[in-house]
Amino acid sequence: MKVALITGGAGAVGAATARMLASDGFSVVLADKAEEAAQLVAEEIRSNHPVEAVAEPVDLSIPGAVAALVARVGERFGRLDCLVNNAGRSGAPKIAEVDLDEWNAVMAVNLTAPMLLVKEALPLMRRTGGGSIVNVASRVYLSGTGLGYASSKTGLIGLTMALAVQLGRDRIRVNAVAPSFLNSPFNKKAVEANNDLVESFIRITPLERVGTPEDVAGAIAFLASDRASFITGDILHVCGGAQLAPQPG
Ligand SMILES: NC(=O)c1ccc[n+]([C@@H]2O[C@H](COP(=O)([O-])OP(=O)(O)OC[C@H]3O[C@@H](n4cnc5c(N)ncnc54)[C@H](O)[C@@H]3O)[C@@H](O)[C@H]2O)c1
Repeated sequence: MKVALITGGAGAVGAATARMLASDGFSVVLADKAEEAAQLVAEEIRSNHPVEAVAEPVDLSIPGAVAALVARVGERFGRLDCLVNNAGRSGAPKIAEVDLDEWNAVMAVNLTAPMLLVKEALPLMRRTGGGSIVNVASRVYLSGTGLGYASSKTGLIGLTMALAVQLGRDRIRVNAVAPSFLNSPFNKKAVEANNDLVESFIRITPLERVGTPEDVAGAIAFLASDRASFITGDILHVCGGAQLAPQPG
């Protein structure tokens, strides 16, 4: 049975992705620092799908923890077919007030952890002749929203391209999804600070709604599947067309 490792598996997009990959027949590993929430999602998946679903508590900003996580996946399953680099955070939004520790913390989770995970996962993915890596970037690479966040997510797109070039010979495909604003707890603070935020995103979105975690999960599941077997180094926008519009204020 194929195995998928999903970082941030306790969060909105991660949990939706784990459910969808489980329904596509993957056993799933939900790696998240939110241990209890990840356990709940894993239990729910086990009761609904005939696959293995395990929670792996981890702080991805600690490089040694990333290596240990992949080692545990290798010991338990002996293979890894899909890696979804989904865990993410915002921070260090403005250049004038940038705090270096906060900047580094954003980079550690959004950019460095995905790179280290790929490095650690390579031998496992090679063992079964390849696989698929999906990096969860963001539409902010087009809008420049938030200094630390936009820099890290744009870096993640660069990482996606470099890895696609370097890992093609290993039959490992590497792609990114770039969602726009989603209806998820990730945006709770931003929505509280700006009552019009959801409406302003709907106004710039040709499909006239904001995205859901399931919208993103569907794109990830497609890129993880054999249906995407000749797609690598690409960015799939999950934006309802809003990637074509200017960022609302
Ligand atoms: N929500 C949006 O509007 C939106 C839009 C575009 C892109 N994204 C990206 O989608 C991804 C998922 O977002 P979401 O909406 O599901 O957010 P979320 O906050 O629900 O989920 C993020 C998960 O990552 C985990 N995480 C954060 N730091 C971690 C760390 N150091 N170690 C381990 N786990 C850690 C959190 O515990 C959480 O479960 C993120 O990368 C985010 O940047 C979100």
